[in-house]
Amino acid sequence: MVATSCVLKRRIYDIQDGCQHAYGSLRRWRLAIAFEGTAPRTTQHPGTALVTGASSGIGAIYADRLARRGYGLILVARNRARLDTLAARISNETGRSVEIVTADLGQGADVRRVADILKMDRSITMLVNNAGVGATAPALQSDIDEMEAMIGLNVTALTRLTYAALPGFVARGAGTIVNISSIAAVGPEILNGVYGGTKAFVLALTQSLHKELADTGVTVQAVLPGATATEFWDVAGTPVDHLPAAIVMKATEMVDAALAGLVRGELVTIPSLPDVADWIAYEGARQALMPNLSHARPAARYAGVPVA
Ligand SMILES: NC(=O)c1ccc[n+]([C@@H]2O[C@H](COP(=O)([O-])OP(=O)(O)OC[C@H]3O[C@@H](n4cnc5c(N)ncnc54)[C@H](OP(=O)(O)O)[C@@H]3O)[C@@H](O)[C@H]2O)c1
Repeated sequence: MVATSCVLKRRIYDIQDGCQHAYGSLRRWRLAIAFEGTAPRTTQHPGTALVTGASSGIGAIYADRLARRGYGLILVARNRARLDTLAARISNETGRSVEIVTADLGQGADVRRVADILKMDRSITMLVNNAGVGATAPALQSDIDEMEAMIGLNVTALTRLTYAALPGFVARGAGTIVNISSIAAVGPEILNGVYGGTKAFVLALTQSLHKELADTGVTVQAVLPGATATEFWDVAGTPVDHLPAAIVMKATEMVDAALAGLVRGELVTIPSLPDVADWIAYEGARQALMPNLSHARPAARYAGVPVA
């Protein structure tokens, strides 16, 4: 593969409804992908992607990769200077249209402004709900106002933007929502518990939407990154160089794997997980609980235990 790195390769993915993959349903897609830093080539314009938290880290890489795959962009974050620099570079390198929206998604009025764009702009075919903050401190060392602000950004804003995009996507029979969760969604003991809780919400919402939106033509994906080398860790309170290098992925590799998971039709993508069978077993165990989670009588083990 490395030997071909100077050669422009175009690959066309033509994925039919009902293709068998480990999980997730697939819609018919045609994506022509140009590699190796050359000008992008596409067979058709895939529309516009709105990426939140695009001023740095994972969001900035999504913006770059989606532009190279032919998307126009609407980039959302607070830091105008960074957005300007990124937009100029991407626009110069790809020729795509790049629009900037400065918004603090922790503020209701700003979230509604971005939501209005998602409702009104029919060219938008993809929403990447990426903006988010984390924390590494345990509950007793955490500030409750910061926890509430994290819920506001990671949960409330993401939910409002999702709800803004969905009706149009369903009406048009097409659209993709990528929700950036975290491995903390399934490992809430790893970092701050409120952070894990917000990311578990993102995973659960995405799983529920996947079921509700079957046969609408709308695709949803939850991405569960492990530790990724971004400024996230400075904001969260533990610099990334304090982590063992063996567990930290480059943001470029994380996003490329997540996009590969999307092309493969995955509902849940865990870029680090070596064996997808482990996730399938985990999901299988969850599904096996379903028939027994609600009964008219308590389970036998609770009978006869003195409680009063
Ligand atoms: N890095 C990791 O190890 C890791 C692992 C799992 C999941 N994640 C998730 O990945 C996502 C992206 O994080 P990252 O690693 O790329 O970190 P990052 O480099 O710190 O990027 C966070 C992005 O969110 C934006 N943002 C923060 N607060 C905002 C607000 N109030 N309103 C609007 N935008 C806001 C930031 O832009 P401005 O400051 O310009 O607003 C920035 O563009 C987050 O949801 C995070 O939870 C990260």
